[in-house]
Amino acid sequence: MGNLVVVGTQWGDEGKGKVVDLLAEHADIIVRFQGGHNAGHTLVIEDKVFKLSLLPSGIVRQDKVSVIGNGVVLNPWKLLEEIELVQSQGVNIDPSRLMIAENTPLILPYHQALDQSREEVTDKKIGTTGRGIGPAYEDKAGRRAIKVGDLRDDELLKHRLAIAAEYHNFDQQQLFNQLAHIKEHVLQYVNDVPLYLNQKTDLGFNILFEGAQGSMLDVDFGTYPYVTSSNTLAGMASIGSGVPHNKIPNVIGITKAYTTRVGEGPMTTELFDEVGEHLANVGKEKGTVTGRDRRCGWFDAPQVRKTCMLNGVTGIALMKIDVLDKLETIKICTDVHNGIPVYEELPGWCTSTIGITDYSDLPRLAQEYINRIEQLTQTEVVLISTGPERDQTILLQDSFF
Ligand code: IMP
Repeated sequence: MGNLVVVGTQWGDEGKGKVVDLLAEHADIIVRFQGGHNAGHTLVIEDKVFKLSLLPSGIVRQDKVSVIGNGVVLNPWKLLEEIELVQSQGVNIDPSRLMIAENTPLILPYHQALDQSREEVTDKKIGTTGRGIGPAYEDKAGRRAIKVGDLRDDELLKHRLAIAAEYHNFDQQQLFNQLAHIKEHVLQYVNDVPLYLNQKTDLGFNILFEGAQGSMLDVDFGTYPYVTSSNTLAGMASIGSGVPHNKIPNVIGITKAYTTRVGEGPMTTELFDEVGEHLANVGKEKGTVTGRDRRCGWFDAPQVRKTCMLNGVTGIALMKIDVLDKLETIKICTDVHNGIPVYEELPGWCTSTIGITDYSDLPRLAQEYINRIEQLTQTEVVLISTGPERDQTILLQDSFF
């Protein structure tokens, strides 16, 4: 069976975009199953740069089908804007290439307003992306969400808006009119996603499930309350798409060779010194969606070991190893005592690894660093990224599906 899920094992921004793009070439269908337009990735295909936050990465490849599963929260205006942008760059998008599950909850203007106004209350700040993600998931769980399929029936939509208006303050008629204006554009993509994906699975198609954010932002297993509002772990690929969990056997855990985080909340190995600054500068650690600086720190092995366990990671894709090239000493957190990290020191390799494509060409000390990560996380490394470009990659496995 070919199904594969790609998740981040840290706090997001591990470099999922590059790996998803690499693997998408061998996939037939690419599925987003959680999150919304809080995610962000940049794809470079034949000299064209695509900046996506909601559409699955496969959308830029004409021969792939992209799917937005029910686990996503969907801002319909953002969807149309992104479709238009991709089309303006010469990629055709039509309902044979893009499908949206009909039970996908919508992000509406009052969700974004609520998210942003909550963030202004400084003592309760989570550092969200301000896109309305949390309030939209709250409404889903609170049974007052508007689902994309509700746009099909005016009376049903009015009824659902009236229920939402008991909780949120907005002009029902105005929002109804705004939605009426765009509904045909959106509805053309709405389809029976679970049936489609299960049929394709049975036919042996390769489906790539593209996670957003990272495991430490999972609403159940992350650093609560400093988390996003969805489940970001691999198990969500099943719930968020309708493909049973036993039909998604492969899990690639995207893992940065050090640690970063955006937003508030604990980060055990965070560095406040020149090494942290060095990682931020060399790694160009700025958020794709919000442009915020990312906090940087050493590799946290207990944390990655735990998220590999939670996700059932079958192989680690180790990203940005080249960012460590100039460091004379590299530390790995091997344990945490009362919140204080215990470090092991390894000698740096102090030579460039940029663009290396063969494992045997890596400096011995870099190989030792990678081996140590494998030992400490109890997980095999199956891909090593040595630069931002697609071909700056060491593949340690023939096939990922
Ligand atoms: P929200 O998802 O906008 O509600 O933000 C909640 C937390 O998740 C904040 O700490 C955000 O910075 C973080 N977050 C959300 N999306 C991403 C992402 O794509 N990468 C990294 N962090 C993210």
